[in-house]
Formats: sequence, structure tokens, C-alpha cells
Amino acid sequence: MRICVVGAGYVGITTATALADFGHEVLCVDREHSKIDSLTQGKVPIYEPGLEELINKNFQKDRLHFSSHVEESIRDYPIILIAVGTPSKEDGSSNLSFINQVVKIIASNIKDYKIIITKSTVPPGTNEWIHQTLVEMGIAEELFDIVSNPEFLREGTALWDIYHPNKLVFGTKTDRPIKVLKKLYKRGNAPFIFTSLTGAELIKYASNAFLATKISFANEMARICDVYEVNYTDIYKGLATDPRIGRHFLNAGLGFGGSCLPKDLSSLKHSALRQNVETKLLDAVMEINDTQIELYLSKLSMALPDLADKQITVWGVTYKPGTDDLRSSPAIALIKQLVQMGCRVHTYDPMVHLELSDVSSYIDQYESVTNSDALIIATEWDQFHKCNWSEVVSRMKGSIILDARNCIDGKTVRRHGLHYLGVGK
Ligand SMILES: NC(=O)c1ccc[n+]([C@@H]2O[C@H](COP(=O)([O-])OP(=O)(O)OC[C@H]3O[C@@H](n4cnc5c(N)ncnc54)[C@H](O)[C@@H]3O)[C@@H](O)[C@H]2O)c1
Repeated sequence: MRICVVGAGYVGITTATALADFGHEVLCVDREHSKIDSLTQGKVPIYEPGLEELINKNFQKDRLHFSSHVEESIRDYPIILIAVGTPSKEDGSSNLSFINQVVKIIASNIKDYKIIITKSTVPPGTNEWIHQTLVEMGIAEELFDIVSNPEFLREGTALWDIYHPNKLVFGTKTDRPIKVLKKLYKRGNAPFIFTSLTGAELIKYASNAFLATKISFANEMARICDVYEVNYTDIYKGLATDPRIGRHFLNAGLGFGGSCLPKDLSSLKHSALRQNVETKLLDAVMEINDTQIELYLSKLSMALPDLADKQITVWGVTYKPGTDDLRSSPAIALIKQLVQMGCRVHTYDPMVHLELSDVSSYIDQYESVTNSDALIIATEWDQFHKCNWSEVVSRMKGSIILDARNCIDGKTVRRHGLHYLGVGK
């Protein structure tokens, strides 16, 4: 099948590459010329394990191409997959301007039947709106089908997720595109869930809202554990072994971030409020998340008086391990707050050399702690809990380690003479 993927971001590049690897002929387009130039030279602008190799493999098989000619490409391909960004507006609703632009381009370039698949996360009603807009722009309904096909991949394991989906969700208005969709994605035994356009949109928001709820629940439990001097890790084990609860998204820490959970929660709340539905649970989830940094910083300032004059090293700047994505990273918010308080901040991250004013970034993990009064673990990269603590101790001026991701073994670091701080530890 011939597919044009619009948007060469985290979702667009990985999806285009995987579809090419499934044997389809795929063209991935983006209006950012520099991004396309790097991709055509084999340089991948994002970090995703295994992606570069898979792109090169499919380049060689002549099944994967990149282009900045958006209009011509949309005109030429029968299947259009929209993977452009849908960031938050100031008021928390979704900014649909990129979707809007693509819909207009599609409208001016439909000459024969097209299946238009929306992969971007869009608020309930958006795909119905796309359908209606095309009709109002004079496109006959026989010439297109809209499919709402939300994406559930996780950065850091995106390719694994595309190859091993736990479900494939399709919202359609008619049965006409179903045969093609089954052929397009046929992989493993993942169930196909067919629903309405808006139903598919809401499955995506419900999933992200539930995952965010689990994280805020874990964080609230950790706060309660803290005052009772109970280790939240034990509570985690008790929860995670119960199949009704499951083990994922129950780690306590700085809270959720990234390009999806915060924006999707705000957008869902906004959509609900527009229809006069109150979102008390979502509000509480966001409120807990928004106060996690404050909670950890108050722990630190209790242990380290005159925090403003201190040198603090932060390990980890990405919103989670396994990615180079800094969008809505709690680590960045924490770093900015430390800078604002007057601290001298050093950072180290295995994937990103942070460029932020008043922050010194290091390429060596151990050099970054030299003469620091405290070390904060803000992202749970594997190498942090496996690090050489003797080396850390010998370089640091102070002895405080604030484990803001509950990923360090407190006993081990205490044995090295470090003063371990965490919430619910
Ligand atoms: N990143 C994730 O982990 C993830 C997971 C699931 C769903 N999603 C959703 O998928 C969508 C895309 O996310 P992303 O992280 O890949 O975004 P991104 O910002 O990394 O990439 C979007 C790309 O679209 C391009 N673009 C914008 N307007 C365009 C136009 N008119 N023509 C051509 N290209 C255009 C941009 O230049 C950019 O390269 C969002 O709705 C997001 O919520 C993301």
C-alpha cells in the first residue's frame, strides 16, 4: 500500500518507518526543510532505540522516503496519515492549527478516493469536524473516508510498541475503509477495536487520564507513607502484585511530564467543561502533579538550610529515561526553580546536553557533582542507580542525595556515608 505520513516528529518518523518495514511504500513529509534534509542524509533528529538502523534498512529497500513537498505528496498518495503536533494553548485546550493546515491542504488536493487517518491526539469531535469541513469545502463524500486512529506508543520503546500493540483503535463513519485498515496494520494478535470517530478520540484521552491518575495516586500514597515512616516501595509491591491493579505507572516521584499526559489531561478537562461536565478527579490528579516539585524542594531545604547559596547537581533532564524529549519535563521545571531560588545548578543527562541560562551542563556524570552540596536524581536513567557511589562521595562537598524518582537503594548510598532523602522512603 502507498502511504503518505504528514509530520516527521516522534510519532510520524517511527510510524512511517515501521509501516515501510511492514512492506508498504511510505513517504513521510514535513514542512520543516532542515528536518527532512537530515532525514534524507540518514541523520535522525530524535533519539529512539533502533530507529536509525530501521530507517537505513528501509532506505536500502527503497520503501521509505522523506520529502518537504507536502502538497504534491498528499495529492499523490491514496492513504494519508496525519501525525502533526497538537500542543496545548495557553488556556489548556488543544491547538489544532497544524491539523487545520493539513485539512486545508488535503481539501485542495483530493482528486481521487483517499483514506485520511488521524494519528494525532485530537479532542472529541475533531474528526467529525474534519469530515464536515471537507464536505463544506465541496469534496464529495464518495471521495474520502476519515479514520480516527489514535497512537499509543511510548517514547523510548516506540518501535517495540508499534510491532507489539496491545490494541488497534479505529473510529470510522462507514465500513468502507475497514478492509484496508486491517491490511495496513496486520500485526500479531492485537485486537482491533472499531468505534465511532469520537469514540476513538475518547479512548486515547481516557487511557492517558487513567495513567496520569495512577501516577498521582502513587504520589499521594507516598506522601501518606512519608508521615507514617513507611517505605512506599513496600506499598508498591503490594499494589503491583494484584492483577486487578497492575504494576505500571505506580512509581512515586516528581510526577508525570512529557509531550502527552499533561497536555492531554488539560485538553480533556477543557472539552468536558465546554459541555458543562465537571472534572473533579482530573483536577485532583493535576493538582497533585503540580505540587510534586514543591514537595521535593521543601524536603531538600529542610535538610539543607540556606539552599539559595548552594551548588546543586541534577542528574537527568529528560521527562523519562530512554528519550531525548524535554517537553514538559519535571526535571527542567525543577532546575528552573532551583535557578530562580539562586542556587548554582549543575546538570548531567546521558542523552541531552542541556542548554539553559545560568545552568552548567556536564558531559561527565561524576564531574558534574564536584563540589556540590546536594545531588538530585530527577530522571530514573539506569546508570544512576548503578553508579559508583565512592566516586560521587569523593567529589561532592556535601552529602545529601535527593531521590526524586524513588530509584536509588537508600541502604547502599547510606553505607557510603550519603544522607538519603526521598518521599515515602
Ligand atoms: N510523542 C509521543 O509519544 C506521542 C504518543 C502518542 C500520541 N502522540 C500524539 O501524536 C501527535 C504528534 O506528536 P509528536 O510528538 O510526533 O509531535 P512532534 O511535534 O514531534 O512532530 C510533529 C511534526 O509535525 C510537523 N508539522 C506541523 N504542521 C505541519 C504541516 N502543516 N505539514 C507538515 N508537517 C507539519 C512539525 O514540523 C513536526 O515535525 C500529537 O498529537 C501527540 O499528542 C504523541
